[in-house]
Amino acid sequence: MTVAAPTELDLTFTASGATQHVFVSTHEPSDGWVYKTPAILDALLPSPVTWRTAVATRGWKRAVLAACVDARRRLETHDGERPVRLRTLARHGLQRTATLADRCVDHAWAVRHRSARLRQFQRMCLALRELACGPASDVVLPFRILHARCTLRVDGRAHQYAGPVLQQRRADHFFDFFTGFALFRWADVAEGQHRLWRCGVGLVDTDEILGPRNWALLDGRLHLADTGSLTTDLALARRAVAAELLDAREAQIPVWWPASAGEPLAEYFAFVRRDVGEARLGALWGLDRARRDCSERSTPRLVRGSGTG
Ligand SMILES: Nc1ncnc2c1ncn2[C@@H]1O[C@H](COP(=O)(O)OP(=O)(O)OP(=O)(O)O)[C@@H](O)[C@H]1O
Ligand SMILES: [Mg+2]
Repeated sequence: MTVAAPTELDLTFTASGATQHVFVSTHEPSDGWVYKTPAILDALLPSPVTWRTAVATRGWKRAVLAACVDARRRLETHDGERPVRLRTLARHGLQRTATLADRCVDHAWAVRHRSARLRQFQRMCLALRELACGPASDVVLPFRILHARCTLRVDGRAHQYAGPVLQQRRADHFFDFFTGFALFRWADVAEGQHRLWRCGVGLVDTDEILGPRNWALLDGRLHLADTGSLTTDLALARRAVAAELLDAREAQIPVWWPASAGEPLAEYFAFVRRDVGEARLGALWGLDRARRDCSERSTPRLVRGSGTG
């Protein structure tokens, strides 16, 4: 067996989301491609990773986290609220210890998050490989998955990274917010997901499920651009389209993204959600994959090589 040598890449930073960094080629920045790595540099993240901003969504973890955050806040609180009843000296000692503890916990938190982002990136690559040769490969922006050794240039400093890289076509228009509803065909969001589901691939992030945030236009067509929430895990995909979760996200959007105020939000979400839900996902999941498995057994096929490098 021969193992392909890693591709050598020299990349320059352009943007970062919460889970992936985005680069362009240093020598050919306008070659029409972007290069994505897992978010390995904490300083580039849009918001810092600290235990206090962590989101525990379920059960006792949520209660414990809320209690810790509250205790930590009370230790700092003097203005307006009732001060913590401790003698000043004791309080200062406690505050210093808490600050030190914060730093240690934040460090451990950041390490844990970094490896979680790496694992997520690997899961995404698996899902993309699953899509690469199938009938839904064009739901996402054209891509290649590379096994690469990279020099990552950020603000005059060079960092080294070796591992999976997603090379993806640069979009003409990336929907970063819940705006621009007049720019695309609304049905593409649900129809795109149906095609993914039929291949046994789903989304776990409500933003991508609702769209158009994290989708993009290339040559006038809508494609999924932020592929970080792709999964081949049916249980995860099913949980993500639960009505309560989508309701909650829909309710947050006008509050968190005031820029969406002039958009036909309610009309758009009602349109998409008519065709996106647990029942539909259950009915479509894996249908094309099953068919592909059967035809592969009877007729060996050529596999298009665009999905792997
Ligand atoms: N193919 C592309 N073409 C043009 N710009 C892009 C492309 N991919 C990403 N970007 C830009 O980089 C940003 C981060 O990329 P992306 O959304 O894939 O990362 P992420 O970490 O998964 O984001 P999130 O925080 O939404 O999870 C995008 O918001 C967008 O502005
Ligand atoms: Mg994104």
